[in-house]
Amino acid sequence: MPKISESALRRLEKSARSAAARAYAPYSHFPVGAAVLGASGRIYSGCNVENASYGLCNCAERTAIFCAVAAGEQSVRAVAVYTPTALPTAPCGACRQVIHEFGPDALIVSVCDAKSRIETRLPALLPGALGPKDIS
Ligand code: THU
Repeated sequence: MPKISESALRRLEKSARSAAARAYAPYSHFPVGAAVLGASGRIYSGCNVENASYGLCNCAERTAIFCAVAAGEQSVRAVAVYTPTALPTAPCGACRQVIHEFGPDALIVSVCDAKSRIETRLPALLPGALGPKDIS
């Protein structure tokens, strides 16, 4: 796989930032946006969608992954996440597991309201992950 271009990364980050404006977060008041870069080169965005039954809240990263899969994309190259914070935050454990299913080596980029950012890869965030092969 060729390296992900700087312009694709910029588009991904921009898409994550603008997706946060569509968050449904009346309980946490913490709007998050995410964007997924598929192997096709297409970008899919998502936001967190909360629920009065708090346990049913869905993170932005999972919304974006599910949108990608629903559109026919099953290979994820990168995920960007924007949080409205002064420091970047990495995806939660549940999202790491869901990203692993479709992008076990995905680049994970976290951005926030300041210049600070995290760029890492999924294996660093979820070592020894359970994957499809483990249950076949
Ligand atoms: N949230 C995300 O969408 N992604 C993250 O990486 C961190 C947390 C959401 C879940 C919940 O709607 C709110 O932020 C507070 O945790």
